[in-house]
Amino acid sequence: IPVDDFDLVIFGGTGDLARRKILPGLYRRCLSGQVPDDARIIGAARSDMDTEGYRQMIREAIAEFGGPEAADGKAIDRFLTRLHYVTVDARGDGGWKELHDLLRKDVINAFYFSVGPGLFGDLAERLLRFEIADTNARIVVEKPFGRDLESARALNATLAQHFNEDQIYRIDHYLGKETVQNLMAVRFGNVLFEPLWNNHYVDHIQITVAETVGVEGRGAYYDKSGAMRDMVQNHLMQLLCLIAMEPPSMFDADAVRDEKLKVIRALQPVDYHHIVRGQYDKTRTSADYRTDAEDPRSHTESFVALKAHINNWRWAGVPFYMRTGKKLKARSSEIAVVFKDLGHSIFPGDEARHRNILSIQLQPNEGIKLQVTIKEPGPGGMRLVDVPLDMTFAEALGPDAEGVPDAYERLIMDVIRGNQTLFMRGDEVEAAWAWTDPIIEGWKARNDVPKLYDQGSSGPEDALMLLHRDGRKWREIK
Ligand code: BG6
Repeated sequence: IPVDDFDLVIFGGTGDLARRKILPGLYRRCLSGQVPDDARIIGAARSDMDTEGYRQMIREAIAEFGGPEAADGKAIDRFLTRLHYVTVDARGDGGWKELHDLLRKDVINAFYFSVGPGLFGDLAERLLRFEIADTNARIVVEKPFGRDLESARALNATLAQHFNEDQIYRIDHYLGKETVQNLMAVRFGNVLFEPLWNNHYVDHIQITVAETVGVEGRGAYYDKSGAMRDMVQNHLMQLLCLIAMEPPSMFDADAVRDEKLKVIRALQPVDYHHIVRGQYDKTRTSADYRTDAEDPRSHTESFVALKAHINNWRWAGVPFYMRTGKKLKARSSEIAVVFKDLGHSIFPGDEARHRNILSIQLQPNEGIKLQVTIKEPGPGGMRLVDVPLDMTFAEALGPDAEGVPDAYERLIMDVIRGNQTLFMRGDEVEAAWAWTDPIIEGWKARNDVPKLYDQGSSGPEDALMLLHRDGRKWREIK
């Protein structure tokens, strides 16, 4: 469905995120026919460049990051005609009048702050002073949204000075992933799951976001952040919320976000002994984390595993195990809802522990599988076997699966549609920091040193023990 006509300004339009994700994503949305012919994208940054130079830069970015669609030279030419460039000085007055004159007032105006949070205030103030943004404008901001509760509060306050909450779109790109939304469809669109979605039937839940990449030249940022701030505070907690929240009365931005907020607020503070931090070690051929981060004494974690509890009626007593790390065995993100064992088996001789597991695979191979127990086919008697009921999209959707937009594409289109459901509200972000801050402060107070783990492994041994102690086992990362 095409969106309404728009002018989208990308501050930081020459930056890494713009070149890797935002512009290739917009290009693909244009190809799909979702973007009206007149819609324009305006790169704005400090570099002294003209529109021609910018178009050339983005042509190269699409060739590099645009995927298979980047082969269509004519389509790229057409896309590039939408692009404009303005040199702006975020801390001065240069370029702002030009930007004002360039924008059309009768279409949706959106402003993507793809810049460090230190510039949010400067940009917001100038957008208003130069009468570029009005109360209908939409502001898109990226993570990291602060580095603790205090800085997140300050950022929210800065934005709130200039814009209303319904104008602010805080991106967590995990919410734009296809399966994450499908998770809500599965939970709330079926009668099957909801009655079982509680501590009577669920033994525990595992959330794994495993990466094979290291810090990839982002050492300076990452070393000040670590896996807790970079991944857990946002992506993993958002997944936790969607799994654990009560059914919202409607699929509407505030109804959904109210329920997510309640989950975060119900999280019990994490016991220090229920967290494992890790740092990847060197191998014969590749450097260790400290070398990648360019700090030989760094105590920043590239891996975290923890056990969380939600203090409410539905989830009391059900552990939520979460882990994420870099340079692990495989790139694989999965949420697994592990149901309880049968109380009693009627099948003589069947000693195996059969369990229903609903596994929601975010990437790669997005899809949802339900492990069920059936009779092993054939004449061998009543032998039971576990098989997956596979709801993988590639099969269910056939050739249409190719057209599934990536997270950024979808989220940017949602900004234009004015749909905030998949964006974080200010109070949610603050509540998430309020939960993670004491964990990070606890490490600091104890001078906690992360455990080394082998590259290509599933993380430090202690992370395995975290579940082992509870008589449970992580699902394999594959
Ligand atoms: C980002 C983190 O938010 O998410 C990165 O800053 C991480 O460190 C990335 O690699 C993972 O995203 P995805 O979509 O590749 O799983």
